[in-house]
Amino acid sequence: MTPLTREDFRLRPADLADMPAVYRVCLKTGNAGQDATDREDDPDALGHMFIGPYLVLEPDFAFVLDGPNGVAGYVMGALDTPDFYLRMERDWLSRIRGRVRDPGDDESRWFGSDWVRRLIHRPPYLYPPALHPYPSHGHVDFLPEARGLGWGRLGFEHLMTALKDAGSPGMHLDVSPHNHSAIAFYRKLGFAPVISDELPSGGLTMARRF
Ligand SMILES: CC(C)(COP(=O)(O)OP(=O)(O)OC[C@H]1O[C@@H](n2cnc3c(N)ncnc32)[C@H](O)[C@@H]1OP(=O)(O)O)[C@@H](O)C(=O)NCCC(=O)NCCS
Repeated sequence: MTPLTREDFRLRPADLADMPAVYRVCLKTGNAGQDATDREDDPDALGHMFIGPYLVLEPDFAFVLDGPNGVAGYVMGALDTPDFYLRMERDWLSRIRGRVRDPGDDESRWFGSDWVRRLIHRPPYLYPPALHPYPSHGHVDFLPEARGLGWGRLGFEHLMTALKDAGSPGMHLDVSPHNHSAIAFYRKLGFAPVISDELPSGGLTMARRF
């Protein structure tokens, strides 16, 4: 890939050396798009669950946005969700679990990052039939300094093109129902909510065919 460059920013393929920086962006955007630092007692927990496996297991669909102050965001995806979840379990989470305490399923006793620690030990791996027309999925998170400049569209379209060129017919993504800004963004890119009893109530999954 020839890096996409505009003003002080540049989108390029991610590298394993980017791991600490993308974990930081994940934490700084992990509360429905806002900084989750004060909520989490383990700064790496969100990264372990939501971004590390993409960087390691799906390098062809992992991109970072460099800015004037270093990595300012990422766009990452998985081509084939069920295959990715198998590999995420076998080659990623099984190793991470050794370093992360399981807080158990009694939510009333959870604190700090326990909700993510529980996900690490009991991931939902959701891929019901309602999502089968959209077998890929992805994530995009930019620090505030990189937002509103058109990089979200550029980056996500770049990811969608890479997925489509690799044979995918469509993709889905999960977004917090409170993250109105991201929902508006995804709608602009052609995504629509998936309404289905097969998906957990209280969440929002959006999808589009390519
Ligand atoms: C959501 C996010 C990726 C969007 O990226 P961005 O670079 O700010 O968006 P862009 O500047 O490329 O905007 C793309 C389009 O979305 C629209 N858009 C972006 N934010 C919007 C908002 N809050 N309300 C309405 N439209 C919005 C833009 O108007 C633009 O429309 P156009 O291309 O038709 O002119 C970015 O703001 C972000 O990282 N937010 C915090 C993390 C987050 O919430 N991630 C998603 C988690 S699911």
